[in-house]
Amino acid sequence: MEFQPTRSITKDNPYRICFVCLGNICRSPTAEGIFQHKVKERGLGSFFYVDSAGTGAYHVGEKANATSRSVADSHGVPLLSRARQFDYDDFNDFDLILAMDASNYANIMTLKPGTTTAQVEMMRRFDPQGTSDDVPDPYYGGLNGFEDVFSILERSSEELLNQLIPHLLNE
Ligand code: 4NP
Repeated sequence: MEFQPTRSITKDNPYRICFVCLGNICRSPTAEGIFQHKVKERGLGSFFYVDSAGTGAYHVGEKANATSRSVADSHGVPLLSRARQFDYDDFNDFDLILAMDASNYANIMTLKPGTTTAQVEMMRRFDPQGTSDDVPDPYYGGLNGFEDVFSILERSSEELLNQLIPHLLNE
């Protein structure tokens, strides 16, 4: 089913997306970097504001994981984020909050205020080859895990952007 954002997207009111995982050093910084790279490549950078966060505080202030960075670099995608913890205010600051897995989703929902207009979705609802609901955590695995995560996030980001483009308004 197509995703329906709650509003039109303009340069004056960029669409704000926060990608969320557990540590904010592997999956969500990779998603942030890929999506940012795609919007720039298509000349749509000013329509979007992109960020990422982790539900846990273990790695706050750290750069993305070295293997995540080298895999992303090898695909031409720089990862520039510093880890931060997801919090309550993010429901005000973002239109769309994308959870990498079901556990992240559950943690996000426990913080969700009743009044927010922010939408919370699973990232892999956008994966055209979705075989699972979760982007697997590569942290304890080998290089293949990181390459897999990059491919999943590349496919999902492409579909996410394609589903948002019809909502862009040039004013
Ligand atoms: P991420 O991976 O959620 O994709 O950033 C992890 C990074 C660190 C930890 C867990 C997952 N950790 O427990 O420290």
